[in-house]
Amino acid sequence: MDLPVLEDLRPVAGKRVLVRCDFNVPISNGVITDDLRIRLPIETLTWLLDEGAAKLTVCSHLGRPKGKPDPKYSIAPVRKHLEGLLRARGAHISQVELLENLRYNAGEEANDPDFVKSLVENQDLYVDDAFGAAHRAHASIVGPPKFLPSAAGRVLAREVEVLDGLLQKPERPFVAVLGGAKVSDKLGVIDALLEKVDTLLVGGGMCFTFLAAEGHNPGGSLLEHEFVENCKRLLASARASGKRIVLPTDIVALSPDGVFGTGKEPAGEWREMGQDLPDGWLGLDIGPGTAAAFADEISTAATVFWNGPMGVFEDPRFAAGTRTVAEAVASTKAFTVVGGGDSASALESFGLAGKVDHLSTGGGASLEFIEKGDLPGLVALREAASRRDS
Ligand code: 3PG
Repeated sequence: MDLPVLEDLRPVAGKRVLVRCDFNVPISNGVITDDLRIRLPIETLTWLLDEGAAKLTVCSHLGRPKGKPDPKYSIAPVRKHLEGLLRARGAHISQVELLENLRYNAGEEANDPDFVKSLVENQDLYVDDAFGAAHRAHASIVGPPKFLPSAAGRVLAREVEVLDGLLQKPERPFVAVLGGAKVSDKLGVIDALLEKVDTLLVGGGMCFTFLAAEGHNPGGSLLEHEFVENCKRLLASARASGKRIVLPTDIVALSPDGVFGTGKEPAGEWREMGQDLPDGWLGLDIGPGTAAAFADEISTAATVFWNGPMGVFEDPRFAAGTRTVAEAVASTKAFTVVGGGDSASALESFGLAGKVDHLSTGGGASLEFIEKGDLPGLVALREAASRRDS
């Protein structure tokens, strides 16, 4: 994918640059619990400063504050952290300004032309390094490329290169592992993946709608009745095209009176079961047999894409399946790409985040890229480049 890159903006010396990042990081009691999204774009910011940029105006959203200021979503902790990281790299932070949360202004999500104008005013160049937000047609993403010479920052460019490579020329066998709660969120991605992969391993809450499509009883597990037919169609189309969709053969389930989830006192009986659960029992993890089978598939693959946990891994009773998959992804010789969001947090919580080839900074964005092959933020940058060339 031919995106304009930082070098295309030269000369940068003396210019004022608007830089869109995705600093939407988890913050608990004012403490940033995972700073990957702040650490990675430092490379872009220092490149611009080293080239002699006069001023960097950095901007990002943080959470979903609904178009008005809300102290809960203040960017202040990010600003402090960013300044520390820049100082540690010897950068002059007086030249760097981080704007307050873009979503404090309703114009951001509405892609309001006046808000775009306020962002690009007094700027000479625009750099988009917010891969995690590239699927949002918001003002700060799609607006500035209409007015300023624009380019992808290092994070955005690398994400697109890896994901595009994964889709265009994967080494085979190509195994995708999908988990997460709802199959309805992933139908488009499954369709797209089935065209590319050899094998699709399905875990997480979404496996129960697939199991129901094969005639099994999911007990009280998460089941999306209205999508059972879609799952039947996906299973049939995989069979017809010689692809494999592998479903769990065993499940770890919690008794109907059980309690799970963060902030709650765990309760109930939990057991390993087969593919049919008794009424009211909740499937909350793949079983050890399934986890071992998935690990075998991962260890013999040449390319692996993983998105979504295999169970409720935040609860230690239901973490083993996700842990086994995470360890297999971390130790396989295959080229490994992990979509952001929950699978990234799972890797992080098992201390394995540094053990994969590419840990995407965008959960929703990476899935949408796989599904659609493009994103509004990328289209905007390419259009800016073609306007500049013509
Ligand atoms: C993300 O965390 O996936 C991105 O920052 C996008 O956030 P959003 O889903 O609130 O648009």
